[in-house]
Amino acid sequence: MKKINKFKIPNFKYPLFKINCPKNIGMKIEKAMKNGEVTEGRFSENFEKNFSKIFELNHKKCVLVNSGTSALTLAYRLMDLKKGDEVISSPMTCPATNEPLYNSNINVRFADIDRYTGNLCLKSVKRLITKKTRAIIVVHWGGQPLDIVGLKRITKNKNIKIVEDAAHALGAKINNKFIGHHSDYVCFSFQAIKHMTTGDGGMLVCKNLKDSILAKKLRWFGISRNYNGNKWKQDIKISGYKFHLNNLASIIGIEQLKTIKKKIKQHKLNGKYLDANIKNPKIKLIRRLKNSESAYWIYSILVDNKNKFKKFINKKGIRCDEVSFRNDKYTIFKKYKRSPLPGTDYFDKHMINIPVGWWINNKQIKYIANKINEYK
Ligand SMILES: Cc1ncc(COP(=O)(O)O)c(C=O)c1O
Repeated sequence: MKKINKFKIPNFKYPLFKINCPKNIGMKIEKAMKNGEVTEGRFSENFEKNFSKIFELNHKKCVLVNSGTSALTLAYRLMDLKKGDEVISSPMTCPATNEPLYNSNINVRFADIDRYTGNLCLKSVKRLITKKTRAIIVVHWGGQPLDIVGLKRITKNKNIKIVEDAAHALGAKINNKFIGHHSDYVCFSFQAIKHMTTGDGGMLVCKNLKDSILAKKLRWFGISRNYNGNKWKQDIKISGYKFHLNNLASIIGIEQLKTIKKKIKQHKLNGKYLDANIKNPKIKLIRRLKNSESAYWIYSILVDNKNKFKKFINKKGIRCDEVSFRNDKYTIFKKYKRSPLPGTDYFDKHMINIPVGWWINNKQIKYIANKINEYK
């Protein structure tokens, strides 16, 4: 009987995702291993510094961790949420956004999303705010920033924190400033299929220095690595996690950063080309927010019939698929009271994704737009 390889990625000329493998990465990792530099160390520190330089952030406020989920977990921990506290979040995301909240017995209230962006609907958020609301968790769907300025207007004079799950949004901008500058906590992911990968990895960016200092302690058992003396004899006053990113993954990160600006630029060029050139009455485009620039991690479109479109476009060699499943449908989240979510219903029914990333060149993106326009 023919053996089926369940891990095999379907072979498309225009894949939805591609992993960049930096040159000579094996040699660099081998050298570090032979030197015994495996756990968190100078490469992790350099990655943190280089990342902050590229995205114009204060490096002291950047906390490198081993996944986007760890970054979110730390952000939630820093807010000192208590059992029963309410947090408003998006149902249209990877479960990583909401599962750490569930695990801490936080009451997640799913707000509806805007049917033409996939991002939180601010009117719905406003309706869900109560005296128990401690935070709002924002997801920038596909890399298109949510209107953070509008959200801040709603939370003004209320003791409500904003956490950005920016797993899709590396390099996105609001008011000409990179995502990472606008909220209390911003969480990035370097998981396999993101703009850049370290295998797995993540970055938490804190608004306050005090938070980032505590987060750096929490990422390694509650022990500070900047301790003068025997770090093992340092008292642990607050229990933490094993969330640090090791040197080997950090070496991959350092190498990825060398080309990340160029790669994000190609995502944006491709995305803007599709925005301007898809003209098909059967297809609706994602609405772009004024004063923002999407990172175009994926290119979501809204089609009349997902399966029909998928069959049509796959035949042209273009991979097209869904990513993430609306979280409010998962059994674990059923305990949270749900209001009607018409925007989420619509987005879930019509949204599908087509390739837009750095591996698609200027000529190929024209082909993709043309084929989409041929769909009837
Ligand atoms: C929106 C979103 N948030 C969080 C995550 C979790 O990141 P990680 O896989 O690095 O833990 C992902 C994907 O992986 C994601 O797509």
